[in-house]
Amino acid sequence: MSEDVYRAPKGTHDVLPPESDRWMDAVTTFASRARRYGYGLVITPIYEHVEVFQRVGASTDVVRKEMYEFEDKGGRRLALRPEGTAPAVRAYVQHRPTPPWKVWYLAPHFRYEATQAGRYRQHWQLGAEVLGVDDPDADVEVIDLAHGFYRDLGLSKVRLLLNSMGDATSRPAYLDALRKYLLDHAAPFGPEFRERVDQNPLRLLDSKEEAWQDVIERAPQLTEYLSDEAAAHFERVQQGLDSLGIAHELAPRLVRGFDYYTSTTFEFASDALDAAQNAVGGGGRYDQLAEDMGGPPTPGIGFGIGIERVLLALDEERGDVAEAAAPRLDAYIIDGVGDGSATVLVAELRADGLRADRAYGGRSWKAQMTMADRSGARFAVILGRREAEHDAVAVKDLQSGEQRELPRRELAGWLQAQVEDEHGTQQQRRGAPT
Ligand code: HAM
Repeated sequence: MSEDVYRAPKGTHDVLPPESDRWMDAVTTFASRARRYGYGLVITPIYEHVEVFQRVGASTDVVRKEMYEFEDKGGRRLALRPEGTAPAVRAYVQHRPTPPWKVWYLAPHFRYEATQAGRYRQHWQLGAEVLGVDDPDADVEVIDLAHGFYRDLGLSKVRLLLNSMGDATSRPAYLDALRKYLLDHAAPFGPEFRERVDQNPLRLLDSKEEAWQDVIERAPQLTEYLSDEAAAHFERVQQGLDSLGIAHELAPRLVRGFDYYTSTTFEFASDALDAAQNAVGGGGRYDQLAEDMGGPPTPGIGFGIGIERVLLALDEERGDVAEAAAPRLDAYIIDGVGDGSATVLVAELRADGLRADRAYGGRSWKAQMTMADRSGARFAVILGRREAEHDAVAVKDLQSGEQRELPRRELAGWLQAQVEDEHGTQQQRRGAPT
């Protein structure tokens, strides 16, 4: 392998400013919504015992082919987190918090995938999980949380796809019917087809294999086999979404990539992205997982949202250039006196909550002005000898070029008022409440 070792490894990427500002925006937007819904932040280790992830499904690609597994120096078999539900459930089983346990997370995820735009070997997810509630209203709340987040960001081309995987009563009858149907149609295909049917016929339904698509299209659908109870649950979820005005499409062939799913499953697809990587988020119920990990029977539901994909979708939908170019600093101090007053002024502005920076190294006036322009600041604050004589500063609007003089003591208040105006305008542009 002749990879340049001083580049980020294949499938990973650095996030530098100003791009990282957009990340922070997405994260704080999500955190603020999650807090309003009563979710607390959970932080679990970046790796777990490999068995934790094997619980998500021995027949899934994520476990079979994509896990970053390793042995530590103590001989433990560990794996970097490929998904966030199993660690959250492991933490629940270990600590036994009083249900309902409502948590959210922000974490890097690792999957050894074929990389392409929107598919990485390390990606970041914002996720939420609710443990201990078997109520369709909880499904609606969880979906509403994700849906509201996309809306907060201004994404409009996101569709909600909804399915039910049935419960312990409906699933076996369906699996029998599906297995029989697939084996009846297996003749033209190679051994991999039969292997997949033997391992888990559901997995075959989300296969991208071109030659199998006709057979998959006509396969029996799980929703036709739902028990009365599972059908009633699914119905209530749909009614709840309707009551909140959340549009959804039934997607009977939506099979999510993990074996733990039961009952409600869903995916958010962005029409702004290529079909192969258009999922900007997805999730569902996993009512057996806690018990499978040795915990008490505990229903659960949650979702994960890929941050990189959300940002890609934003780029595609509205070319996020204007937003990226939003001022990164409120003020950049140009020091024309060199007597130490720039140090005091920049500290004062920061203490007043303003974003302020300055040049160092006794640079020329012209060089400092160039740096102010490059800094992305909204205003340059000029400390000049002439102004200093009557305790004033000059303030230059770096967008319009307009310049004015202000008494030094009024500077912070004046800048704050400008910044608040600017903030209001940005919020309006995004359609968010100010
Ligand atoms: P997932 O569908 O595998 O679900 O991943 C969730 C989201 O992460 C996807 O919709 C996508 O936006 C993003 N994503 C996944 N893989 C990649 C990748 N290789 N590169 C970039 N983005 C990616 C889960 O992981 C479940 N744990 C979700 C869940 C939570 N279900 C119940 N609770």
